[in-house]
Amino acid sequence: MTTTELPRSTAGGTAAKIAELARRREVSRQGSMASVEKQHAKGKLTARERIEAFLDPGTFVEVDELARHGAGAYGDDARELYGDGVVTGYGLVSGRPVCVYAQDFTVFGGSVGERVGQKIVKVMQRAIDVGCPIVGINDSGGARIQEGVASLAAYAEIGYHIGLASGVVPQVSLILGPCAGGAVYGPAATDIVVMVEKTSHQFVTGPDVIRAVTGEQVTFEELGGPSTNAAAGNVHYVAADEKDAFDWVQTLLSYLPSNNLDEAPDFGAETELEIVADDLGLNAVIPDEPNRLYDMTTVIQYLVDDGEFLEMQAAFAPNLLVGLARLEGRTVGIIANQPMHLSGALDIDASEKGARFIQFCDAFNIPILTLVDVPGYLPGLEQERGGLIRRGVKLSFAYATATVPMVTVIVRKAYGGGYASMGCKHYRVDTNLAWPTAEIAVMGGEAAVSVLFRRQLQEAAAAGNDEYVRDALIAAYRAEKCTPYEAAERGYIDAVIAPSETRIEVAKALRMLRTKRKTGPARKHSNIPL
Ligand code: HXC
Repeated sequence: MTTTELPRSTAGGTAAKIAELARRREVSRQGSMASVEKQHAKGKLTARERIEAFLDPGTFVEVDELARHGAGAYGDDARELYGDGVVTGYGLVSGRPVCVYAQDFTVFGGSVGERVGQKIVKVMQRAIDVGCPIVGINDSGGARIQEGVASLAAYAEIGYHIGLASGVVPQVSLILGPCAGGAVYGPAATDIVVMVEKTSHQFVTGPDVIRAVTGEQVTFEELGGPSTNAAAGNVHYVAADEKDAFDWVQTLLSYLPSNNLDEAPDFGAETELEIVADDLGLNAVIPDEPNRLYDMTTVIQYLVDDGEFLEMQAAFAPNLLVGLARLEGRTVGIIANQPMHLSGALDIDASEKGARFIQFCDAFNIPILTLVDVPGYLPGLEQERGGLIRRGVKLSFAYATATVPMVTVIVRKAYGGGYASMGCKHYRVDTNLAWPTAEIAVMGGEAAVSVLFRRQLQEAAAAGNDEYVRDALIAAYRAEKCTPYEAAERGYIDAVIAPSETRIEVAKALRMLRTKRKTGPARKHSNIPL
């Protein structure tokens, strides 16, 4: 039955009124049926199908099903358009409440006008009031052109509420179509953004507008495909398809508390604190040669429950790993240098990636485990021109202002600014451990010897034995300075432990820190250099 064939009845007795309600609800559910097929043909689900795929079956409660834009707003457009381009409401994910909205690309390209904005803000406010996550499914051309400034106001209202909810409830955005304008500014301000291969694109202005304004020819994919956005750090996870995206977000929510006053779910997996056969494998991970590569994810997998690590932003600043895992059934945020990329050096992107992750964990009571193997900050003109000073300092600043339990393990290098920025004792990390392979110093052997012994090396070069002298000086420097023991003597390291003891020592530290309470001096908020 099409919408025009549905019986109309606005007067009469109770039965007629109930029939009229049924008619209106049916009109709302049908949406714009011609466009639904278009949506399916593109490999995309409709808004309602998406919500059903995401939430626990049968738990969705729709709000504002009968909302629509003001009569006459669209001239001759006679479509009734109940729902007006977005489906909103709440339901459960793994039995826990979640507020949700899904933009409906079949209605004016999912664009946001006054009524759509009001509907989204209403469920956001509900999420803030009850303290549950808000998950937004975005598939939208941005501000609805026909509604003019009312559309801009709607987006600004959404933006205001994202700011209000930030650090109060987890906010997750799925980008599931060609999203532009306000449809990407909003998600960018939320905690987590997910895209899908092939079907999702996001950009501030689309290819047509760019061609009209600048004459630049650019494809959808180049401009806003998942790989462009993942490399830019705009996306936390790129899913293979929509189902994968929903699965990932469900898993993500299982690691998170519902709000900032809550604890993340505890899967109750406290273990006997004894070294098991698996732990011994860690003793062989660090290569004997100081510059040989190894994969830090191997270390993480040894330490966390079932080796499961929910990595985020994998394609952005791969020299620093961030993600969530569990230790003894409880969520922990992991931040770790990755020697496989740039030898684990910190650059602008890594610093911003790490700082934002620390703030995310700190806002939601998630303890932070830092694994260190860092040769320092990446030297170079490009980095300095890009603002390394201002942007690189964000990482240590984030540690300085975090109040959750923090544990750091130095597994190999901790040189210079890298030592200071990767969760050292002086930024008030609670427990600092180091492996006997740790090299904690101002700089590595090569660099230190060339600064400290320049004159001796020049003399040796004149005598023709500079290579021998350099190697001997480096070996002596490394033996004396590149160890964990000087730091341990000063109490900057609480304990030097065998790698195989790490899982147990971290578990003990986190158990002990569960009741940590820390408040700083009274202030409105800190002022991180943005
Ligand atoms: C009204 C819109 C619309 C919009 C798309 N449509 N965007 N209607 N307002 N912003 C409609 C189209 O007219 C079309 O209607 C239907 O949605 C599908 O759009 P198509 O273009 O056919 O789809 P597709 O080829 O997939 O392209 C999708 C798109 C493109 C890339 C999103 O539509 C596009 O570039 N739209 C404009 C994007 C943009 O520049 N937005 C910025 C707005 S400014 P019919 O009836 O034909 O099906 C902004 C600022 C916010 O958002 C500020 C916040 C403070």
